[in-house]
Amino acid sequence: MKNFFIFCALMLMISCSEKKQENQNHQNEKIVKQSEMAALMLEMYSLNFENKSLILAGKNPQKLPKEFYKIHSAKLTDSTDRNASFEAFSEFYLDTYQQLMNSSKDSLISNHNKTVNSCIACHKTTCIGPIPRIKKLLISTN
Ligand code: HEC
Repeated sequence: MKNFFIFCALMLMISCSEKKQENQNHQNEKIVKQSEMAALMLEMYSLNFENKSLILAGKNPQKLPKEFYKIHSAKLTDSTDRNASFEAFSEFYLDTYQQLMNSSKDSLISNHNKTVNSCIACHKTTCIGPIPRIKKLLISTN
């Protein structure tokens, strides 16, 4: 049983890292093959990346675009990823983002980091490949 989990984890790692390489090597091909969810994830990534710079510059983060709610419906590369836990993590992510929007200036950094950690929490259960990249969105607090 333990081996089975390790095997699953490896498979996830391989498929996610393969995708990343493809992304770098065949940008054009990838656009065609990319799932709706992968495209949405990349947009989420760049928004959070911009937010990091905005917050570091003492500005307010951007509003969550409506289309980001598509996390509940976007087509996944592997449709079996969408289960109850995936839905819970999606809600959790949207909630933390909402908290960031309502955050006072002095808790922007910690709320931004909460949002990024909610990305990581879901990724730990679905797609571990991009986690090192996502961690770069965190704002260092020391
Ligand atoms: C509810 C679970 C969940 C949440 C929350 C989540 N992700 Fe993802 N992410 C996934 C899954 C599943 C994939 C693989 C999508 C696919 O291939 O269809 C993915 C893919 C990605 C990718 C790789 C896209 C590619 O193929 O090049 C990046 C980068 C990424 N996510 C970043 C983020 C960031 C940044 C956040 C938070 C702002 C986030 N994710 C939140 C589940 C999640």
